Amino acid sequence: MESQNPDEAKRQAAAAALELVKPGMRLGLGTGSTAAHFVALLGARVAEGLRVTCVPTSERTRIQAESLAIPLMPPDFNRLDLTIDGADEFDPQLRLIKGGGGALWREKIVAAASKRMVVISDASKAVATLGKFPLPIEISRFGYEATRAAIVREARICGCEGVITLRKGPDGAVLTSDSGNYLLDCAFGAIPVADELAPRLSAIPGVVEHGLFIGLANAVISAGKDGIKIYGHLG
Ligand code: A5P
Repeated sequence: MESQNPDEAKRQAAAAALELVKPGMRLGLGTGSTAAHFVALLGARVAEGLRVTCVPTSERTRIQAESLAIPLMPPDFNRLDLTIDGADEFDPQLRLIKGGGGALWREKIVAAASKRMVVISDASKAVATLGKFPLPIEISRFGYEATRAAIVREARICGCEGVITLRKGPDGAVLTSDSGNYLLDCAFGAIPVADELAPRLSAIPGVVEHGLFIGLANAVISAGKDGIKIYGHLG
């Protein structure tokens, strides 16, 4: 097969995930360019009569879903059947880095409330060791320098060092999440012990949530020039 446009790969992964959706399901809708393909395809099925109810993981996804008349649940949702979301990286244990689009807190709440989480991705997101993509961490604006210092200490214990930057927009203004928090991007290069780093980050009071998703993804549908590859179990 010839080399493939990454956006077409994302669309193919999204189309494969759509086959997992059954009438009546309660769905979590992810955030990002790959998840946006899924929402678009789901919207077309809803227009044809498919009945589902959904929770968006960001304001961006909510606006897209509403524009397609996809029925949404109120924010006090509970159990979900399936969440389909993208990722910035995934490793062979299906551990993820997420949050490149700034939506990681809501994404993690939704994934954790779902019976199953299936990640959709182009093949470039597969890594042997997490960490080449800078790890996003959502933090409280209050005391953020103290929180950053605590993150540096805990990361060092786990063998992670690198530049930690406060996320800013192209105009230089500090970006905030949908919940009004700051986002740090931690350029560690590699996270040798992600399972150890994750609880250490969670224990820092100013950390709202971090972008390590461990034990949440059941499967990854990855599309690339060699076609679709499934990691983990879809059903
Ligand atoms: C959003 O905050 C992220 O977790 C996205 O799921 C992740 O950044 C993947 O985005 P793309 O699908 O745009 O690569």
